[in-house]
Amino acid sequence: MISSQILIFAPLLAVVCAQSQPWTQCGGIGWTGSATCVSGWLCTYQNDYYSQCLQAASSVSSSSNVATSSPAHSSSPATTSSAASHTSSAVSSSGASSTATLTGIAATAPTVGPSRDTGKLPALGWNAWNAYGCAISSDIILAAANDIVSLGLQAAGYQYVNIDDCWAEMQRNSTTQRIVPDPSKFPDGIDGLVTQIHALELKAGIYSDAGTATCAGFPGSLGYEAIDAATFTEWGIDYLKYDNCNVPANWTDAYTPQDNDWYDSNSAIRYRQMTAALAAQSRPVQFSLCIWGDANVWQWGSRVGHSWRMSGDSTPSWGYITQILTTNAQYLSYVDFYAHNDMDMMEIGNGGLTIEEQRTHFAAWCFMKSPILLGTNLSNLNSTQLAIVTNPELLAFHQDATIGTPAMPFTPTSSGAAPTSPPQYFAGMSAKGVHVFMINTASNAETMSFTFSLVPELAVGSGSYVVHDMWAGEDLGTFSGSYSTSVAAHDTVAFLVTPA
Ligand SMILES: *[C@@H]1O[C@H](CO)[C@@H](O)[C@H](O)[C@H]1NC(C)=O
Ligand SMILES: *[C@@H]1O[C@H](CO)[C@@H](O)[C@H](O)[C@H]1NC(C)=O
Ligand SMILES: *[C@@H]1O[C@H](CO)[C@@H](O)[C@H](O)[C@H]1NC(C)=O
Ligand SMILES: *[C@@H]1O[C@H](CO)[C@@H](O)[C@H](O)[C@H]1NC(C)=O
Repeated sequence: MISSQILIFAPLLAVVCAQSQPWTQCGGIGWTGSATCVSGWLCTYQNDYYSQCLQAASSVSSSSNVATSSPAHSSSPATTSSAASHTSSAVSSSGASSTATLTGIAATAPTVGPSRDTGKLPALGWNAWNAYGCAISSDIILAAANDIVSLGLQAAGYQYVNIDDCWAEMQRNSTTQRIVPDPSKFPDGIDGLVTQIHALELKAGIYSDAGTATCAGFPGSLGYEAIDAATFTEWGIDYLKYDNCNVPANWTDAYTPQDNDWYDSNSAIRYRQMTAALAAQSRPVQFSLCIWGDANVWQWGSRVGHSWRMSGDSTPSWGYITQILTTNAQYLSYVDFYAHNDMDMMEIGNGGLTIEEQRTHFAAWCFMKSPILLGTNLSNLNSTQLAIVTNPELLAFHQDATIGTPAMPFTPTSSGAAPTSPPQYFAGMSAKGVHVFMINTASNAETMSFTFSLVPELAVGSGSYVVHDMWAGEDLGTFSGSYSTSVAAHDTVAFLVTPA
């Protein structure tokens, strides 16, 4: 997958300067530069003030782009067999949906959408997987819930306490066909645990799989959607993470390189069946599609769930962070209220990351509006780490109830900046105003600068601006022209920029 990235970037070496570089501006009100992008990149409308060079869809297949190194969740593109059953949903070469009559399973698949009573903002909470894997119990989950309260995480906005894989017995109840909680791990059942989580005024999440078995081999929900949705709802569940392992051959999809709308793919239909089953319940359930970036999920995810995974599993490594930032930066135009690209669960506290890398991990998940599910033993977070994950200004950007869109890459100076992968300069709006975020991806400290008039959201003008440090919660002063600061290796700085 690394090699496919290199191939995409290689032609840039020979490029003419008249065309806009990757990730940079190529249009918008007041824009006088080039309106075309270098080969392989497409000038894409973001808002009236800003169009941007994004990777052309044809060079970004769902398989090559979001390849995963996850051992447990191998996500090689589904192969062969069932393409014929839904060729009628194929799209024209221009990318518009054809109007041909659907046949096969796509014609009868449910089209009901996800609840609008939950999932408007990206989820904030905790999940057991990154810290404990299968070694879970109601005691461990409840300890995390109590930590969320006692450490001030609940006061900062964290709500969800989510169980991951391995909570069930290996067999369904042969009479009722319901999934049975493992009584050695959950002596009071899942409902007993959920009652205790709700008593803390937190919300409870559970995990299942859109296949015959979960990734760890426990019962999957494919074909049992109605029973399982009813069971989860009866237990009081508020959030469902729905994984993508053990998919029967006749439910896979043929790989096609076009920028198709995959809403009628077998992959999407496996998830749509659970959306419909959840919609038939009395309780809203936030629906998290753990589909690893397969099947161009960003195109149809918001018609099916509230968030969708963009890659395989996270690891506590700088390599994972740069890989998912590179991928997700290309699909930020799909993010808004009720629609969140999921960059996977947090690794803060799990070792391997410097404190600067942990700051970038948190800041980027905030400004890209990914769900944030902490994934560590919370009692072991030190005061620096707790201050990161409870930073009020970054969380306010993430949880902004008036603006749903994330920060987007922009060109920081008129001389441009060498295109980097991932991009390092992002800007976006919140209820408080205009924000600029700069990630130093270099392995040494760098001076980083941005020109005020080039921030797409700032009115074009040459006035002075107050630069406010979101991490420290304090004003840095009034500046005009541009702002420069030194950024430590792999760190991220975050600013609110207000006309003086
Ligand atoms: C299956 O569920 C029924 C109804 O709750 C219960 O009576 C029965 O004992 C369960 N069977 C097994 C094998 O647990
Ligand atoms: C796969 O086979 C199962 C069992 O026959 C059937 O219920 C299901 O609809 C099939 N899936 C597709 C996509 O055709
Ligand atoms: C979490 O960390 C605390 C503090 O170090 C420790 O007492 C506790 O046993 C840990 N929990 C688990 C489940 O490992
Ligand atoms: C917390 O741990 C990080 C490493 O993850 C370290 O850089 C930082 O100094 C620690 N903070 C305190 C207060 O010990």
